[in-house]
Amino acid sequence: MRIWAIANQKGGVGKTTTTVSLGSLLAESGQRVLLVDMDPHASLSGYVGVESVGGGSVYDLFGVNGDVVEAASLVQATKFERLSVLPASPAMITLDRQLGARSGMGLVLSTSLGMLANDFDYVLIDCPPTLGVLMVNALAACQRMLIPTQTEALALAGLGRMLRSLSMIERSRGMPLRRRIVPTLFDARTHASRACLAELRETHGDLVTQTVIPVDTQIREASATGVPLAWWPAARRGGDAYRKLLQELLALQAAHEASGDARAEDAA
Ligand SMILES: Nc1ncnc2c1ncn2[C@@H]1O[C@H](COP(=O)(O)OP(=O)(O)OP(=O)(O)O)[C@@H](O)[C@H]1O
Ligand SMILES: [Mg+2]
Repeated sequence: MRIWAIANQKGGVGKTTTTVSLGSLLAESGQRVLLVDMDPHASLSGYVGVESVGGGSVYDLFGVNGDVVEAASLVQATKFERLSVLPASPAMITLDRQLGARSGMGLVLSTSLGMLANDFDYVLIDCPPTLGVLMVNALAACQRMLIPTQTEALALAGLGRMLRSLSMIERSRGMPLRRRIVPTLFDARTHASRACLAELRETHGDLVTQTVIPVDTQIREASATGVPLAWWPAARRGGDAYRKLLQELLALQAAHEASGDARAEDAA
């Protein structure tokens, strides 16, 4: 089972869109995919038409009131073949406060997903835009991390914050986490977007994916309609970009797995 986390402390940069897009493309290609919604706002759950009401959510994995619920009983099918969801609920917003003083809470998701290892080929974890127990759990559970980064000046500061948090988390993981920065919401017509992409490449080099996700107004339409964008014909530009991104990430993963090691320069 491969586990990817999609995270950035900056809000509105395309994390949820990227998670749903890549997850649905993997499902389309025959993989059994689980999307994990770690954001209390539950936008991913809403996007794919799943509600946690009564059915439990990521919240229940943490056993706040003493009862730990197994992940398998929380997973819900979506209307899309091979695409399942572990939904979010608003109660998750209280986890940081409730778990603040308890130790050992950073590996809850990792342990829960371990029990699903035979059920899914890929797990994609959509993170909230805040550094807290939920993001820490996601980054402890994954083998790879994607950092969608909007191509605008403010987002670069957000990226800096995310990378600093990541170094902190890596120290407690004891090993580096393979990561890639994915430029999103790119508008080739604006100087600001082009300058920002150039700066990203200049500063972060190969950590930035070759594929850039363009602004495509149909992406919002697709999510409002609850259709993953690769299957929303009007969002052809966005859909094509995500297909290309997936191919790039799979090639990278295959190269890492073939080399079979965890050399520091690859991990970066
Ligand atoms: N490439 C794009 N072109 C146009 N609109 C986009 C694109 N990517 C995402 N959006 C839209 O921008 C908004 C934010 O995207 P999304 O929800 O994926 O970001 P997020 O990083 O998950 O946000 P949050 O931090 O609030 O969870 C959504 O309305 C989405 O439909
Ligand atoms: Mg989101």
